[in-house]
Formats: sequence, structure tokens, C-alpha cells
Amino acid sequence: MKKILDLITKEVEAAFEAAGYAQELGRVTVSNRPDLCEYQCNGAMAGAKRYKKAPVMIANDVAQALRENAVFSQVEAVAPGFLNLKIKESFLTAYLKEMEESEKFGLEMPAQKKKIIIDYGGPNVAKPLHVGHLRSAVIGESVKRIARYLGHTVIGDIHMGDWGLQMGLIITELKERQPQLPYFDEAYEGAYPAEAPFTISELEEIYPAASARSKVEPAYKEKAMEATYKLQSGVRGYRALWDHIIAVSVADLKRNYERLHVDFDLWKGESDVHDRIPGMVEYMKKEGYAHESDGALVVDVKEESDTREIPPCMILKSDGASLYNTTDLATIMERMEQIGPDAIIYVVDKRQELYFEQVFRCARKTGLVKPETALQFLGFGTVNGPDGKAFKTREGGVMRLETLIGDINERMYEKITSGEGEKMSPEEARRTAEQAALAAVKYGDLSNQASKDYIFDIAKFSSSEGDTGPYILYTIARIKSILRKYAEQGGAPQAAALREAQSASEKSLMMELAGFQTMVETAFADTAPHKVCAYIYNLSNVFNHFYHEQNILKEEDAEKKAGWIALLMLTGAILETCIDLLGFSAPERM
Ligand code: ARG
Repeated sequence: MKKILDLITKEVEAAFEAAGYAQELGRVTVSNRPDLCEYQCNGAMAGAKRYKKAPVMIANDVAQALRENAVFSQVEAVAPGFLNLKIKESFLTAYLKEMEESEKFGLEMPAQKKKIIIDYGGPNVAKPLHVGHLRSAVIGESVKRIARYLGHTVIGDIHMGDWGLQMGLIITELKERQPQLPYFDEAYEGAYPAEAPFTISELEEIYPAASARSKVEPAYKEKAMEATYKLQSGVRGYRALWDHIIAVSVADLKRNYERLHVDFDLWKGESDVHDRIPGMVEYMKKEGYAHESDGALVVDVKEESDTREIPPCMILKSDGASLYNTTDLATIMERMEQIGPDAIIYVVDKRQELYFEQVFRCARKTGLVKPETALQFLGFGTVNGPDGKAFKTREGGVMRLETLIGDINERMYEKITSGEGEKMSPEEARRTAEQAALAAVKYGDLSNQASKDYIFDIAKFSSSEGDTGPYILYTIARIKSILRKYAEQGGAPQAAALREAQSASEKSLMMELAGFQTMVETAFADTAPHKVCAYIYNLSNVFNHFYHEQNILKEEDAEKKAGWIALLMLTGAILETCIDLLGFSAPERM
């Protein structure tokens, strides 16, 4: 189904042509003076020079040509040459009816379906998820859902940090604590225990302890580096221990991500490409891309047009060890080979921007990616506390994601049971609180442009008023409640009952609904979930404005009432579709 703006533009273009002017002057935009008109066309101004005529004369000719038009209720040529347009209620109603009857509200599928990999989440195993991990997961999940909704093939890959020094540190610390374990006995040839020698909480305590110790004890760090090396070169006991670390960690990560309604198609990690590295390094050397520099192996990636210093991309350290870069490059190679994507989008902290610039350039220069494959860095800003500094616990420690979500859950539960909303059983209140808490956190994050830092303000995010997740959920719950009551009164909600708008607020609501397709396409093109948030906030506002103007359920004119109910159905369906794109859902009542 065509976008409403395109349909309108087509009419105005035809009018320009009929009046003897170039068709392309007829481009229409949403009005920037909503007090005067709904849409506008500035083509007459652009045509003035070409036709050596005052723009208002051209605008008048076009307005004349649009006189008997079925789309516009008002066409006004105003000085110095704008065309102010209002659309006919009948046209709008017919358009919305078609949206209701079409799949995905008439959203057109792209001419070319793309294959897109989204690299997001990026947790490091054996380290608990903290608030810093929230953004990658939440933004990546939404970008994935938006692209999928538009019909693209999208593969989400968690790309875990599971291979570096942190693994050697954990192994070293375990050896110090439990040297008798068979994993450390090089003569041991039997099968290793199926059960891990630690729980997730132990693991989460071991890593920071080992990390702290390595910073003050050089000999300890030496051991950890050796353990990393042994692990990476395949020492049997170390691999077996590593398998346990991954299994225990992944089980915990799955539980956490599930709670966040975030899910991945691929649970790959840096370790997965280990075996590809030697071949890749060989190739880069042989083709003359990589050269030695202070003992390390690097690929130069500077370009003449650079306005800032872009250091070479390091492939191997002087001791021959691979780095974060190396695994990222080998991962690109693997993805090209196994999946062949049209684009890879990395949702990572914006402080890694320069790093990714190096990796992308290196991948292009060395031909690891096809020229037509897009590599996109979607960098996000920091989550700050109310003091404007990186978010911390009250004691000044790193805030665990689980704790944070738990706190918001409690707050939402208190609100829901405090008697403001609908009465419900404790179980329903719990479930509702969980949904509302997720909406609060995700909307609070996603409503900000990804690249900006934002302040994590629990009180603001969980408020039922203003630009928040709970406000959107209350709006949806309100719509559902009216639809339920209508059914209880014996009414059968029907989309086809939609009628022409009778008031300004009703028309505003209908206009907003008609903009759905454009919004989804823009949010995808700009990888910008915040545009979905802005849309539903606006939609909720116009809906609530309309709702407060009449008493829908008490309306005596049955046709009018049925028309409003149809409008509510569409509004509710679009709002629920949008929150699904953001990665949360709404309760039946609140
Ligand atoms: N684990 C990394 C970190 O904590 C993030 C991974 C991002 N993705 C990637 N392909 N490098 O910084």
C-alpha cells in the first residue's frame, strides 16, 4: 500500500503538470505550521526562476487545478507562494480502512530483501551483566525487530567475550584455590567431571579477585598470561575447564537476557574464530597487507583524507598473541563465508568508535568483505546516574543489571497495588509490574537517540505520565478496557465501522495513524528506535486528547460509537505493534 504522503504528492504533481509546470515541483511535506494546514508544497517557490513568474501565480494555477480534487478539502495558495493543504476526511477514512485490512497496516515490503547481521549484547563471560550492558542489548534487539518487521532477514549474534586474558585469570585463580582438581594434572588422562567445580556466584567472585591480584602481582599476571596461552593452544584440562566456565556463564546470561526479552539467533563468541586466525594472518602477510612494526604485525589503515590520526590495525602482538581486533576481523571473514550478509551492524559503546573504524578499514583493504557489504557502527552513549556521572550503586559500586531491574520491579509493584489503577490479584499485579518495569527501562533507554548519554532516572522512567514506557502501557490498557466494556455491552468491534472524523482531535488521531508506514521505514533507514518512541508518544497524546473529549461508551448514536470503537482498535493495534518493535509488551489492564 502506498504511503499517504506519496499518494498526496502524486496528486499535487499531476496538478503541477496539468497547470503547465514541471511535475517534480509537486513534492509535498508534512506541514510545519499545523495551525494553518496539514501538508504543504513549496514547489512554486522553486519554479519561480524557471518560469520567470511570481511564485504565488504558480501556486494559484496549481490550486486551480486541484479544485475538484478528491483528496483535498482545502487548497490555499498563500504569499509568497506556498500551497497549504488539508486532506478530505473521506479520503483519510478510506485510507485507514485499507490499512486495517492490509497486512502490517499496509507497510510495503522492500524491493530487495537484505540479509543483515546484528552484533549486539557483547557480554564478557564470567562477569555479571551491569547497567553498561543494557544499551547494547536493548538497542540491538529493537533494531533487529524493526528490520525483521520490514521483511529483511536478520541474524542476531551475541558475540561473547570468551577468549582473552580474563579466561586465563579465572583459570589461574582456580588453580591457586583448588590445585588438586584433575584439570591441572597434566598426567591425567581420564574423563573430566561433568559438573563444573564452581557456581555462577563463585565465578563472579573469582574473576574480580583474580583481576585485582594481577594488577599488583606481576608474577601472578605472568601465570595468567601463560594460562591464556595454554588454553588457546588447546591444553586439554584447560579447555575442559573453559567449557565449564562457558556453560555456567551462558546459562546465567540466557536467564538474564530472557528476562529482558532479548534473544539471539547465534551464541557465538570470540573463541569461535580461533582456528581461522593463523590462515588469516598468513593471507595478510602473503598479500603484502600486513607488515612488522616494533615486532608486532600491523595493517596500515590511514587515508589521505583523514583529519584525525587513525593508527594502524594491529593483527598480532609482538609475542604472537592475537587481540580483540584479530578476533573481530576473523569473525567478519567467517560471517562472509557462512552467511554472506549485505550488512553487519555493530551495537557497541561509542568509545569503541575509533577501534571499529580501524577494523572496518582493515577488513575492506584486505578484501575480507565484499565492497557492497555495509559495515555499520551503531555507537551508544553512557548510562549516567542522577549526578551525571556513570551509573553506580548507592555504595559506589557497579550496578548489576539484575539489581536494577529488580528495584524498578518493586517500584512498579508498589504503584500498581497502591490503589490508583485497577484492582487485581497479587499474581496479576506481579506480572503486570514486571511488564511495566521492562517498559520503563527499555523505553527510558530507547527514547534517547542512541549516541547520546542519558541519565537513568528511575522515578521519571516509572512515572505513568509524560514520555515514558508506563504512560504508553496505560494508554494501551485504557483502549483495551474500553473495547472490553463495549463487548460487555453487547457490541462487536468492527474495523469496517470506521467513519469520517467529526472533530479536530479525531482527525489528528487519524492523521497520526496514517503516518505509521513512513515512521517504520525511517526508523529502519536511520537505525533509530527513538523514532518509534517519538511516534507512539505523540500517538498516545493525540489519542488521549481525543478520548477526553467524548464519552465513547455512553454515546447513544450506535454508528458513531461503532466508528470510534473501530478507531480505537486501530490505535491499539498500532501501539502494540510499535512496543513489540521496541521489545516490550502491554498487560490487558493496569
Ligand atoms: N565484549 C565487548 C566489550 O565488552 C563488546 C563486543 C562488541 N562486539 C564486537 N564484535 N567487538 O567491550
